[in-house]
Amino acid sequence: MCGIIGYVGSKEIDVTSILLDGLSKLEYRGYDSAGIAVLNSTGTIDLHRQAGKIANLVATVENGSRPGDSTLGIGHTRWATHGRPNDTNAHPHPDCSGSLTVVHNGIIENYAELRRALQQDGHVFQSETDSEVLAHLIEREYFGAANHDLVLAVRTALQHVTGAYSIGVVSREHPDLLVGARCAGPLIVGLGENEQFLASDIPAILKHTRRILILEEGEVAELRPEGVKLTTLYGTAIERAPLTIDWDIEAAEKGGYPHFVIKEINEQPEALRRALTGRSRDGQLHLPELERMEHAGLLNNIQRILVVACGTSYHAGMIAKYAIEKWARIPVETITAAEFRYCDPIVGPETLCIAVTQSGETADTLVGIRQAREHGAPVIAVTNIVSSAITRLADAVLYLQAGPEIGVVATKTFVSSVAVLYMLGLYLGQSRDRIHEDQMREFLTSLDQLPDQIQRILDQANSEGDIIEPLAKSMATVNSIMFIGRGVGYPTALEGALKLKEISYIHAEGFPAGELKHGSIALLDPATPLIGIATTSHVYEKVVSNIQEVRARDAHIIVVATEGDENIRQHANDIMYVPATLEVFSPLLASVPLQLFAYHVAVARGCNVDQPRNLAKSVTVE
Ligand code: F6R
Repeated sequence: MCGIIGYVGSKEIDVTSILLDGLSKLEYRGYDSAGIAVLNSTGTIDLHRQAGKIANLVATVENGSRPGDSTLGIGHTRWATHGRPNDTNAHPHPDCSGSLTVVHNGIIENYAELRRALQQDGHVFQSETDSEVLAHLIEREYFGAANHDLVLAVRTALQHVTGAYSIGVVSREHPDLLVGARCAGPLIVGLGENEQFLASDIPAILKHTRRILILEEGEVAELRPEGVKLTTLYGTAIERAPLTIDWDIEAAEKGGYPHFVIKEINEQPEALRRALTGRSRDGQLHLPELERMEHAGLLNNIQRILVVACGTSYHAGMIAKYAIEKWARIPVETITAAEFRYCDPIVGPETLCIAVTQSGETADTLVGIRQAREHGAPVIAVTNIVSSAITRLADAVLYLQAGPEIGVVATKTFVSSVAVLYMLGLYLGQSRDRIHEDQMREFLTSLDQLPDQIQRILDQANSEGDIIEPLAKSMATVNSIMFIGRGVGYPTALEGALKLKEISYIHAEGFPAGELKHGSIALLDPATPLIGIATTSHVYEKVVSNIQEVRARDAHIIVVATEGDENIRQHANDIMYVPATLEVFSPLLASVPLQLFAYHVAVARGCNVDQPRNLAKSVTVE
């Protein structure tokens, strides 16, 4: 987490505004504190750092001595790992002499020993962060060598560091140089005309340029007004053609909605269409991305599948378990990545690992998958971010193509992940001759209908008289809500509960419906509403029985049910209807009213729905 922005140009302009604007596009990466460092006209570096959101920094800059026009600057928005979220721990971090400043995203694992050694050499530290060691290390290398070469000093300093980093460095001694380096965590360079940009993500610089270089692990970028040079940490030159970004800038903005989250919920039909497009033809599923694995024989002897993921992506993986086992008859285990890493897992070449991570940067997932690879497991990554870290660990990558998701909570990337995993399941079933032609046609037809069906749910929710928003408002003051479901309804319940708790801060728990009576039902009282996932399924009657058990305790019952189900009315106080689909696909439809419900509860409670407290969009620490 944490967001980095940097600028270097040839003529003096309002660098402060470029940095602050870029940071506002990166705030989803963390918002514990923010800061900028700008080289001023007297050749010193103006540093502004402020705890809290970027708005606090903007106010400080506007009310204080605002840096004048400049040609060089860096900025940072922080998600705290080492050290409290206060002004002093905010980046950029200066060295002792005030010669250079550094912004950092990641964790320096050996920072304690580096700090001790630097202190013994006389370096005085101001903050509690791991990041500050970078400023002092670079200072030591820079002034320790006769040639005062900033790029070389950065390279040499980083060779002492273990851990994860993306960094930006500026020095008053080099007004025309911005240095970036990446070991983990995303970092991109934006190429302009006599100006260059450094950023953690594309929306931060899209306003200025569409020509982008994506830094790979272990690379250093020298940005000068006239051009950019890429090298390895050891100085070997790298040639790389820039990518041209064709996203509409609007796509990265709110597009008329009050929040990114609701915009992204409404983009789900389109996101799903993009995920499905081109992947089925003549009643067959086509995943050309897997051809290389097929040719290498990596998928022939798969005996078992492990889905490794966190949070919402883990729930997508739980849904995939039902689908893949049903279609391919291969046993699937879905495991939360943070546990997988430390459970001495039994994996080998016969275990296919599927890493699901919309950001492609989740440290727990990366570390787990790295370990699986070491044991010889073939890996397929499911991610939304092109060239993200997970793509380099995988034998094949299935991209979601969901477009940028700025809201911190996953919505459209969830439905796209589930859809891509369905297609992977169908592909594996097809290649093992487990799915009859007619069945395949039925599955593909149902899949193709899902975007329109989600659109109908959204149109209904946006129409006058719909129940979701008023129902959500009426629930805004409850303390706790339970979610239950069976079969694929169970991960749907878990995801509904996660969405609600993370954006509204109401305590919410998801349970397998049949498990409730084995203990957790004790939590229920008339003040604790229950949301049951009771869409059409082979366990429908069982779910209804479980709902009845709760209703007998006077709890308020809300049900997600299939259109046309009149029977459910007698068991529920409120019903959110979704269109009929095959049971296996029902989570994609049932999740949408639950997302809308969570959103409206959170808005009614006045929560910051786009940036919930304590969360970050990509969690790049274990
Ligand atoms: C929930 C949410 C998180 C992420 C989790 C994994 O809305 O966004 O639970 O799903 O941190 O993130 P990725 O998919 O990027 O690995």
